[in-house]
Amino acid sequence: MNYKLINMKVFGDERGKLVSLEGNKNIPFDIKRVYYIFDTLPEQERGKHAHKNLEQVIVAMDGACQFVLDDGKTKETVWLNRPDIGLYIGPGMWREMRHFSYGCKLMVLASTYYDENEYIRNYDEFLEAIKK
Ligand code: TYD
Repeated sequence: MNYKLINMKVFGDERGKLVSLEGNKNIPFDIKRVYYIFDTLPEQERGKHAHKNLEQVIVAMDGACQFVLDDGKTKETVWLNRPDIGLYIGPGMWREMRHFSYGCKLMVLASTYYDENEYIRNYDEFLEAIKK
């Protein structure tokens, strides 16, 4: 399974808390792109794709959602519900996001610029691709 949870160092004092994300330090790649997902609904699912080479770290900045991670053999579920934990997902992982809480905000750090050709959006194609 090409994913892991990353515990971010939290700088906290009486003023509040701060987390710093740095490429090739606590984020295991050069950060080329940041995007975020918001205004989701609990009954709406997202994702349902894999990437050929892209690496990502996803942080639930607010609220919670569940990730289903699938390497073609095994499926595991992970809840993201803390702004100090990042979910790293490497290439060759099918992912689905579901059970978004109201107000959930996901921030995604990505290792490449957006490129639709880098997506595998068909599950049978994904199973074929990981055999290679
Ligand atoms: P989509 O891949 O469906 O989102 P999810 O990761 O939740 O499955 O992306 C939604 C739309 O946004 C789609 O038309 C592609 C576009 N998009 C960009 O233009 N740039 C990006 O960096 C991303 C992630 C998506």
